[in-house]
Amino acid sequence: MPRCRVTRRVHFNAAHRLHNPARPDAWNAATFGVCNNPNFHGHNSDLDISVEGEVNPDSGYVLDLNTLKQVTEDRVLQHLDHKNLNLDVAWFAHLNPTSENLAIVIWRELRAAVPGELALSVRLWETPRNYVEYAGA
Ligand code: NI
Repeated sequence: MPRCRVTRRVHFNAAHRLHNPARPDAWNAATFGVCNNPNFHGHNSDLDISVEGEVNPDSGYVLDLNTLKQVTEDRVLQHLDHKNLNLDVAWFAHLNPTSENLAIVIWRELRAAVPGELALSVRLWETPRNYVEYAGA
């Protein structure tokens, strides 16, 4: 059976501050630069969600994109979009909201809702030039 990878791209914006409270302020400033700004700052992020698997011979789909759209809105976007990641989002109460950690958390949320026979990967664009990928390692 042929296999395809299907991707949906969504967008969200959110504020954050990168900070490790276990390390001194100077370390945080040197490590995170402007992302350590005490009063937060915003990012406009694109998120590509890909599922890969066999094309169903009855539907011709790997997964109905409307299903992926709904799952993404319910499990990811409603938690993140227009939020302060540090203050508003329980996932980051004790986790530094880097793009790496964001990609991992998003993947875990989606993995619980995407059929198990489909491979899942996410690509989080923190800027048009930088992205992080996670596929469950
Ligand atoms: Ni930042």
